[in-house]
Amino acid sequence: MVTMGPPVVDLGRRAASLEPQLSEAITRVVRSGVYLLGPETAAFESEFARFCGRAHAVAVASGTEALRLAMVAIGVGPGDEVIVPAFTAVPTAAAVCAAGAVPVPVDVDPDTAGLDAERATDAVTDRTRAVIPVHLYGRPMALPDLGVPVIEDAAQAHGALDAAVPSVASCYSFYPTKNLGGIGDGGTVVTDDAALADRVRQLRQHGLHDATTYEHIAVSGNSRLSELEAAVLRVELERLPEWTARRRAIAAAYRAAAPSLRWQEPHARHVYHLCVARVEDRDAFRAQMPFGTAVHYARAITQQPAYARFSRFACRRADAWAAECVSLPCFPEMTDDEIEHVSRALP
Ligand SMILES: Cc1ncc(COP(=O)(O)O)c(C=O)c1O
Repeated sequence: MVTMGPPVVDLGRRAASLEPQLSEAITRVVRSGVYLLGPETAAFESEFARFCGRAHAVAVASGTEALRLAMVAIGVGPGDEVIVPAFTAVPTAAAVCAAGAVPVPVDVDPDTAGLDAERATDAVTDRTRAVIPVHLYGRPMALPDLGVPVIEDAAQAHGALDAAVPSVASCYSFYPTKNLGGIGDGGTVVTDDAALADRVRQLRQHGLHDATTYEHIAVSGNSRLSELEAAVLRVELERLPEWTARRRAIAAAYRAAAPSLRWQEPHARHVYHLCVARVEDRDAFRAQMPFGTAVHYARAITQQPAYARFSRFACRRADAWAAECVSLPCFPEMTDDEIEHVSRALP
């Protein structure tokens, strides 16, 4: 496969662009002697909540854990069903299983790749306890009221949400490649509901309710975020608006250069975690293009060996997305020449 030209993502360039602030933040934490649930985490939580326009953010160990803990906090558990899009990253469905519930994959919209509203409505049963719309690739997805709580999978959508979907919580990932990505794993639950935020705070630390009396009121696990991660994320958060603008400019250049390619339906708040086109002969496209490409995702949830048993409906549009999607180079540190290089090569 030809891989000249820019890669899909290059985290080394991001790290370099953050110096000297990155090294200063890391050194500050190492010297502080406080490594978990300290001042960096508290400051990051309030800065990220403000960035999202929500009242509370509770930092946890990963995006998958954010989804799981949000579900557990609203009472999702064994015997419950949770509707998820059939075309998403596996962790959306994995988190439902980890909460003890059953994921119900539903087909997606052919143009946006978001949960199909009509099919989601038809999938609601008396066991449905929540629905998880995924703002895939960073594009905000609207969803009508299905009569069950909404937990947004915003793992790819930092800064994209505009409350088009009234949700009890939005869950973010800080996996390194994300628009706001750490130097390891991380995630957060963002909510306006103080009781829900408190519950997640307890659940992220073994159900600890009161540290002075050592009282644990829920059986849970350890899902804490490191102070190092929080300090790094604080440095990055200051740059995020500028990075998002650059991602949008890259996507706009590609779309203008190749209007006949099939693109995800545009949205003014799209933050282009991934810039994805659909091509019928993906293997040939990837072999011919003189730049890095990737596939997010090669299989619908219903096509995954581990999750096929949860299939309840045909999800042909999800299958089509999985067969045709291809991710193009898209990261804020791309040079103008690299963007031009990709744009010129596109069919
Ligand atoms: C759509 C989606 N949901 C959930 C996750 C899970 O996040 P994490 O890898 O931080 O657990 C990811 C990222 O991997 C994702 O892209």
